[in-house]
Amino acid sequence: MKRHFLRALSLVAVLAAVLGWLAYTRFDFFVPRLASEEGVVVDRLLRVHFFLIAVIFALVVGFALYSMWAFRRRGDDDAPGLAIHGHSGLEFLWTVIPLGIVLGLSAIGVKDFLFLRRSDADLVVQVQAQQFSWSFAYPEYGIRSAELVLPVGRRVKFEMTSLDVIHSFWVVEFRIKEDTVPGMTTYAYVTPKEPGQYRVRCAELCGSGHANMYADVRVLPAEEFDAWVAEQQAAQQQVASPAEQGAQLFQQYCAACHALDGSVKVGPPLNGIAGRTVTLQDGTTLTADEAYIRESILDPQAKLVEGFPPVMPATFGQALSPEEIDALVQFLLQVEP
Ligand code: CUA
Repeated sequence: MKRHFLRALSLVAVLAAVLGWLAYTRFDFFVPRLASEEGVVVDRLLRVHFFLIAVIFALVVGFALYSMWAFRRRGDDDAPGLAIHGHSGLEFLWTVIPLGIVLGLSAIGVKDFLFLRRSDADLVVQVQAQQFSWSFAYPEYGIRSAELVLPVGRRVKFEMTSLDVIHSFWVVEFRIKEDTVPGMTTYAYVTPKEPGQYRVRCAELCGSGHANMYADVRVLPAEEFDAWVAEQQAAQQQVASPAEQGAQLFQQYCAACHALDGSVKVGPPLNGIAGRTVTLQDGTTLTADEAYIRESILDPQAKLVEGFPPVMPATFGQALSPEEIDALVQFLLQVEP
């Protein structure tokens, strides 16, 4: 028996060494690029987990593989196997060692959690989620953006909420994920450490446009961020033509579900919508005019188009100002077929 045990243990040791080494040293291969200070802490703990999981995997699989080979059924040997009645020493060890590991990881987890949630941010970005888009406001600069632009090296506090259902704000390169919940404000903190292009993804199944609910993230060096802010402030002061403003709003709020090239996404394509003959679910037809377009944005369930599910959110009247609704309607009236 002892011979078997030593052999199995050697197999476990070899497997554990190889897999543990792979998991620890090749960790970066298994996870996406890292672009925030907070992520360093997250990855450090995750790397320890990877290592431990590899070792435990080797322990279980090593003994199993050896037993399958060494104790396989031979010839016509039908004798019953050895009867074994537990082993107190072993049971003590496999209780105490995992308990120690879990308590140790909890202690590191609590310390890291407090570090990640400390409230010393020097830039606040308000995040508003809705089916199926993101909007970002920078109260200290008085600007709003469909793209999340951040400076390198400043700790940002995200104040998040949702207009309709629960969404989840997830930037994998920052290693943060936090739900956005209607009626309450949730928080997340991040200090971007590398300029680059990333993406906010919605990580909560929130409806038919969920898969298209993302926003671009651009991390810039401090001077370029200041220039971007100045540019946005200037742009928001001069009056863009309603159709131009409408085009931007369309990209931000509508493009996840409505195409402008004639293709069918979650909803019908909207190129050439003005004057189109629309068939409704009750079989009646109408000609799309300004009043119909406006009503369909503010109260999408009022007139349902044949062949499409009634999934468009009725929150655009809250998300957009009356001027923005006007701009969007103007844009849709003009958009080429
Ligand atoms: Cu929002 Cu999924």
